[in-house]
Amino acid sequence: MSRRGRFITLEGGEGVGKSTNLSLVADHLEARGLEVVRTREPGGTPRAEAMRRLLLDPFGEEPLDPDAELLLIFAARAQHLARVIRPALERGAWVVCDRFTDATYAYQGGGRGIDRARIAELETFVQQGLEPDLTLLLDMPMAGSQQRLEGRLDREGGRRDRFEGERAEFFEAVRRAYLAQAASAPERMTVVDAAVGLEEVQAQLRRLLDRKLAEWT
Ligand SMILES: Nc1ncnc2c1ncn2[C@@H]1O[C@H](COP(=O)(O)OP(=O)(O)OP(=O)(O)O)[C@@H](O)[C@H]1O
Ligand SMILES: [Mg+2]
Repeated sequence: MSRRGRFITLEGGEGVGKSTNLSLVADHLEARGLEVVRTREPGGTPRAEAMRRLLLDPFGEEPLDPDAELLLIFAARAQHLARVIRPALERGAWVVCDRFTDATYAYQGGGRGIDRARIAELETFVQQGLEPDLTLLLDMPMAGSQQRLEGRLDREGGRRDRFEGERAEFFEAVRRAYLAQAASAPERMTVVDAAVGLEEVQAQLRRLLDRKLAEWT
């Protein structure tokens, strides 16, 4: 496959600062003259965003079967890859995405207990070898990120979605699974300490990006 653009993903639990830092990463790349596509998962196209709503809305408490959840996520991912990510990378744009398949291993694998091998099968089927060039895992203890999430919900309103309403053990399992992913792919994934102030997180991210840019260009 001819591809010139790079694919960067931001990962981490609820409220760790993914959306906040996505802008920093994208702005930093744009300042170097790169074309950047900012996007998120699940979603990133109108149809995939509709699938996101199917995933997040409580639907009056009708349980969503874990396998159905997993398949919906990969359905949304297939659409996003076909319509946005692959075309962007092929024309040389860089893609910065809020969550990708590491989140599936963390939430559906770690959180819901789905076998990794099953996730890996779908990953191969849907991605056909495409994976991020760099993944920034924002990591912090759960108590702190829950506080940030509460703060945001207070300020911006809105209610907790299907994932945000989960229990503490679920989020601990998600965090462990994310760290295990990072340990299994140390070349691609970098763990960033997200418990410190925003300035310091952003300084870490800028340094890391500059190092990667020097390596890649
Ligand atoms: N390093 C930081 N220190 C203090 N507050 C922060 C830091 N990073 C982000 N925040 C604040 O925490 C809140 C959550 O951040 P943000 O929405 O970026 O997280 P997120 O990971 O995208 O969350 P979600 O998983 O819900 O999408 C925001 O109000 C943001 O301003
Ligand atoms: Mg966010």
